[in-house]
Amino acid sequence: MSQNKQPLKPGEKILFTVAGAFVVFAVIAFIVMQIFMANSDKPLFETKTHASLSAEGQLGSRLFRESGCTTCHRALRNGTNMGRTADLDGIGSRRSLDWMYAFLTEPVKNYGAQTIDHAPGQRSAAYVAQMPKKDLHAIATFLSELISEQGSSSAAIPPKGDSPFIDSMVETWAPKEWKEKYRDIRDDPETLRQANEKATKELQQP
Ligand code: HEC
Repeated sequence: MSQNKQPLKPGEKILFTVAGAFVVFAVIAFIVMQIFMANSDKPLFETKTHASLSAEGQLGSRLFRESGCTTCHRALRNGTNMGRTADLDGIGSRRSLDWMYAFLTEPVKNYGAQTIDHAPGQRSAAYVAQMPKKDLHAIATFLSELISEQGSSSAAIPPKGDSPFIDSMVETWAPKEWKEKYRDIRDDPETLRQANEKATKELQQP
C-alpha cells in the first residue's frame, strides 16, 4: 500500500492551498461578524415598516396566513418574497383599503396591468377572488394597516435628509435628459411637501 502513495502534484498543492484559504477566511469572517454584532446595538437591517392592527386587521392577518397567501407573499415575517411575487410589508402606504379590496375581488378589472396569478383561470391565485367577500375585506383591511416609513423601499417619497446612496445612483444611472426634464424633489422642500400630499391623496382613491 505505502509504495502506491504519491507526492502531491503542483496543481493539487495549489488547489488545496486555495481551498484551505477559503475555509480559513470563512472562519475568520464568521468570528469577526459575531464579535462585531455582539458589541453593536444597531440592528443589521433597519426595519422601516410597521403595523398597528385593528380588530378586523387582526382577523385579516390570520386569514392571510391561513389562506395560502404566504406561498407567494410576505407580510409581518410570514411567507416568502422569492421570485416574482410581492413583499406586502408597507403596502398600506402605497395602496388604499378600497384599492386592495377592489383588486382582491376583481383583479383583472382593477390591477391596471396584466396579471400573472390572480385572474380567473390563471395559475394558483385564481381562488383568491372566489373567497367570501367579508374575508377579503378583512384581508384588505389588514394589508392597508401595513405602513412604511418615509424612505423605506415601499414608501412613495424618498428618505429625509441627504442620501449619498441615492445621489450616486442618480449620478450613475439617470439619463442626461432626466436632469433637464425633471427636478430632484429632495432639493426643494415645497415640491417634496406637494409630492407627499399627492401620494397621500392618491391613497385615498380606489
Ligand atoms: C400563486 C401565487 C400567489 C398567491 C397564492 C397569492 N398571490 Fe397575490 N399576487 C401574486 C402575483 C404574481 C401578484 C402580481 C399580480 C398578478 O400577477 O396576479 C400578486 C399581487 C397581489 C397584490 C397586489 C400587490 C401590488 O401592490 O401590486 C395583493 C394585495 C395580493 N397579491 C394579495 C394576495 C392575498 C391577500 C392572497 C391570499 C388570499 C394572495 N395574494 C395570494 C401571486 C400570488
